[in-house]
Amino acid sequence: MFFKFIVSISIVVLVSAARIPGPEERIVGGHYIPIEYVPWQVSLINDTNHNCGGVIHSDRAILTAAHCLSNVRTENLLVRAGSSHWRKGGQLVKVLKAIPHEQYCPSLQSNDVAVLILESPLKFNRKVQKIDLAEETPQDETMTLVSGWGRTQANATYSWPILQGVHVALLDPTKCKEVYGKDVICADNLGRGICSGDSGGPLVNLKDRKLIGLVSWGYGGCARRNPGIYADVAFFRNWFNKTINENIQSITSDCKK
Ligand SMILES: *[C@@H]1O[C@H](CO)[C@@H](O)[C@H](O)[C@H]1NC(C)=O
Ligand SMILES: *[C@@H]1O[C@H](CO)[C@@H](O)[C@H](O)[C@H]1NC(C)=O
Ligand SMILES: *[C@@H]1O[C@H](CO)[C@@H](O)[C@H](O)[C@H]1NC(C)=O
Repeated sequence: MFFKFIVSISIVVLVSAARIPGPEERIVGGHYIPIEYVPWQVSLINDTNHNCGGVIHSDRAILTAAHCLSNVRTENLLVRAGSSHWRKGGQLVKVLKAIPHEQYCPSLQSNDVAVLILESPLKFNRKVQKIDLAEETPQDETMTLVSGWGRTQANATYSWPILQGVHVALLDPTKCKEVYGKDVICADNLGRGICSGDSGGPLVNLKDRKLIGLVSWGYGGCARRNPGIYADVAFFRNWFNKTINENIQSITSDCKK
């Protein structure tokens, strides 16, 4: 729930102890972004509160971060698509199944990805669209867009009501993986970037408009501390495909009983 404050900045501490789950991990230093610009963005709502971001993969499947599923019950989860406001508008659909990655490790924040299967399909329109997944981890210095309803300052106590977005530069993926793990990519967070409440949301390559990352975690102080860490979508591509196929099939066969 809390985006914890890390005091030490030694590399050892960064790697071992600082992978802090932030189920409420708003964009700092961003600007209002109409949902039409990022129609793949959804809000994952727990009971009545914005909990995390998510991304539309198909009319029945949403991608998000695994840590967004801790301390929530699937029957309390809703997805709002097609609105710049997480509290109102668009399409509100119940989550039928929430599937975190089998190897998700909360203490390391590794494999921090999950799939949500919706109870009824989303209706695509100009505010509700799926996004294609990147086939390969992008190269250094790719310009990207991240969006979300997370906090606008590290010390804020609530999710921001209106969607925000900010451009961030990808950091050298090879170096990022060496330090933070083979399943993640890093983006420059200096002064602008992710904070509590953005988790599970989309990092999109501006060149080809493909999904390259899902917001995973960052350090206390939010965008003032580098880097922002994202699950590498290309790395998890097969897992997403397999997990969605298996779970959509099981729903179809349940219906035939
Ligand atoms: C989700 O909502 C339930 C019911 O209101 C609450 O008990 C729980 O703490 C919430 N979980 C998170 C992660 O906020
Ligand atoms: C919150 O943080 C901002 C920017 O870091 C600062 O200007 C503001 O005074 C802080 N507010 C509180 C209540 O600490
Ligand atoms: C996803 O999986 C299905 C069936 O397992 C396969 O036919 C399809 O080619 C896969 N798609 C991608 C993009 O990997």
